[in-house]
Amino acid sequence: MGKLKITILVENTVGIPSGLLAEWGLSMLLDFGDERILFDAGEQGNLISNAQILGHDLRLIDRVILSHGHYDHTGGLYKFLQYRGTIPVYAHPDLFTGHYGRRLEGQEDRYIGVPYRQKQLESVGAKFHWHSELLELSPGLWLSGEILRESLFERLDDRLVQLEGGNAVQDSIKDDLSLFYVTDQGLIIVLGCAHSGLVNIVEHAKKVTGESKVRAIIGGTHLGPATSEQQQQTMDYLRGLNLECLAPNHCTGLDMVSKLATEFPSAFNWAITGKTLDFD
Ligand SMILES: [Fe+2]
Ligand SMILES: [Fe+2]
Repeated sequence: MGKLKITILVENTVGIPSGLLAEWGLSMLLDFGDERILFDAGEQGNLISNAQILGHDLRLIDRVILSHGHYDHTGGLYKFLQYRGTIPVYAHPDLFTGHYGRRLEGQEDRYIGVPYRQKQLESVGAKFHWHSELLELSPGLWLSGEILRESLFERLDDRLVQLEGGNAVQDSIKDDLSLFYVTDQGLIIVLGCAHSGLVNIVEHAKKVTGESKVRAIIGGTHLGPATSEQQQQTMDYLRGLNLECLAPNHCTGLDMVSKLATEFPSAFNWAITGKTLDFD
């Protein structure tokens, strides 16, 4: 198991003036030396110009993993595919299920799913591979499959719905996938939006890989929209992990980002657009 370098190609925030653009969304490049994986594609397609500024050639990406079918993780995929050409794309078979966001009382629910049809994406080179079960992508690198949801305090976001027979019902976002990388020093967990619950994902990772030490958690935690009770209990859980690296971004929200920074000063690393994280 070799080195891993993670580059945040785009997310909600950007730092020093450099020409990089932020957007509401998430896209990360995982570089294993001999293999390059694009994990999510953001919303607008800014991953392409950002990668150029950061010195990465996205035409060298070997495969794409989509964490789930929300627009802010898949909207940039069409532009990426036009740029890159034919490439394998791994996702859960429910990727294209109708994800909606609840609006204020009296307003229509808003479609927040993949903004393209499967055939449109295939026409510019997407070769979809559907996986709802655990999959070893390469030695030590696992695609989670559907996450077991056993935590007693993690709740689904009730603003996320699906439409069944014209009625809005809770969207459980079964298509939520994460990546687990097993290293000699423990697990590195890469999240999209963590809709399954951060604790559920970490416990699932430990169970399926057999690795009890968690070294790093990177990506969208969805703690921003969580209840204060869930936020507090998640912080308590994280305290017990003794992480080397806690690098939240995207749907973590500024409030929770600052709480995590205060609570975990040595592990904390705000994973904003352009940031790189290196792991031996
Ligand atoms: Fe998201
Ligand atoms: Fe999401």
